[in-house]
Amino acid sequence: MLKIRISLLLIVLSAIVFTSCGGGQSKVEEIKAKTTKAPVDPMANWQSNNGIGPVKSLTLPAEIDNALVAEGKMLYEAKCTACHKVDKKFIGPAPKDILTKRNPAWVMNMILNPEEMVQKDPIAKQLLIEANGAPMANQNLTEPEARAILEYFRTL
Ligand code: HEC
Repeated sequence: MLKIRISLLLIVLSAIVFTSCGGGQSKVEEIKAKTTKAPVDPMANWQSNNGIGPVKSLTLPAEIDNALVAEGKMLYEAKCTACHKVDKKFIGPAPKDILTKRNPAWVMNMILNPEEMVQKDPIAKQLLIEANGAPMANQNLTEPEARAILEYFRTL
């Protein structure tokens, strides 16, 4: 009688251990699935991504400054057209409509600090991959010069 009780107890105990372990395992699987699926798209939160560099944030005035645009156009043609065409991909991406997919501070930092951007910024890293590893060159512009080019980009 006692033997039967003990073996019954053992059966019940092992059933409990078995089911709780099983449960635990599926929890782990569930968490794994949640964390490994759906990687964050680096392009998705572009609006709040200021990039990495000297420009911490930048809000553009509503009006376009035409004198600044003219200066930016000259600079762009002298220093950027070796790798960029206004409206189609060349060695680098086309700047047309760039402000519909990048934040203004991000664009400034990409111009002023491309080496660090392609190493650390999620969007720039992705662009480097898309350019087959061809790096954006630092043209050693000053911040006002980069700002002029950005103003020109607003008109493209
Ligand atoms: C030696 C070629 C080269 C030159 C010169 C160059 N770029 Fe680039 N640029 C690239 C490449 C390639 C990328 C894509 C990122 C990468 O691969 O590093 C890029 C990316 C960019 C981006 C980001 C584009 C996007 O879609 O987000 C901007 C903005 C940019 N360049 C602006 C400029 C400006 C302004 C100049 C001139 C001052 C310039 N670039 C000069 C090659 C160049």
